[in-house]
Amino acid sequence: MGLIDTIRAKAKANRKTIVLPEGDEPRTIAAAEILAREGIATPILLNGSYAYAKAAEYAAALHDLRKAKGLTEAQAAELVADPMYYGMMMVKMGDADGLVSGAVHSTGDMLRPALQIIKTRPGMKLVSSSMLVECANRQIGQNGLLVCADCVVNPCPTAEELAHIAVAAAETARTLCDVDEPRVALLSFSTKGSARHDLVTKVQQAVEIAHGLAPSLLLDGEMQMDAALVPEVAAIKCKGSPVAGRANVLIFPDLQSGNIGYKTAQRIGGANCFAVLQGLASPCNDLSRGCSVEDIVNTVAMTAVQAQ
Ligand code: ACO
Repeated sequence: MGLIDTIRAKAKANRKTIVLPEGDEPRTIAAAEILAREGIATPILLNGSYAYAKAAEYAAALHDLRKAKGLTEAQAAELVADPMYYGMMMVKMGDADGLVSGAVHSTGDMLRPALQIIKTRPGMKLVSSSMLVECANRQIGQNGLLVCADCVVNPCPTAEELAHIAVAAAETARTLCDVDEPRVALLSFSTKGSARHDLVTKVQQAVEIAHGLAPSLLLDGEMQMDAALVPEVAAIKCKGSPVAGRANVLIFPDLQSGNIGYKTAQRIGGANCFAVLQGLASPCNDLSRGCSVEDIVNTVAMTAVQAQ
């Protein structure tokens, strides 16, 4: 079974309720029909015919949550009239297990309310993302699967943030992708000091911090992509590393490299790519505006599994 089939089967085994704020959007409506019919999740479509019965309750709760940030009662009431905010409040208040949006909204428009309302899970320093990259070459990663981070959220992570992204991506690999032993490579244009630059130093510092955060995690760097993935290159450039040559979790140094990296794998390498957010207190996930009905079904399935 491929990654997505496994995730769909897991979602069906313990069905969760997922709210879809873009409930009037045709692909979302079609996806909701499939989700309900196949028992992957219980979808809630926020559309023109949905009864927004809890608007006043949610507005009061949102005001409470954000008043210290200057949000007035009137502004809170105005915000929950927007299905994106109403949906976030449903998740916050426990009336839905997760949220999927982005067929219409941009990534930032979906992420901002998620960060403000759902916030980080206890113990998590920041929200980031993992891109699940399914490659045709089964020699790479775990049977062709690579978990890559952060390709969606943090434009310019500090060394400490990079370390937290690495630990969170390893957890996503374990919990969502059944990777028994995450082997995490922090990527750079340098391998073990082959180049000197402030950008390289930042990755080296992130490795040190990550070792402190998760001492038993197999994690190493800084290393180049070829040293991370190819055993023959690892034997030359990165001898003795527990990760090099067989990494299955790749940590990019910033959002430019991460976003370009996964799109290169997808568009030139023909890999299947699935994005998930990690570190939120409850799962919310973003779609691409070019998404298909199938993409929405898959993203809801991943969100449902994260909620389990
Ligand atoms: N983790 C946790 N909280 C965060 C994070 C984070 N990574 N980033 C911001 N926040 C919080 C802030 O602390 C703040 O909380 P507060 O209001 O309670 O104090 C709130 O979120 C808003 O913070 P801002 O700094 O005002 O955030 P901003 O609105 O500028 O942007 C965003 C945050 C949307 C995540 C921004 O970093 C962004 O646009 N990232 C890139 C998204 C993107 O375009 N990705 C690429 C395309 S997606 C694709 O290709 C699949």
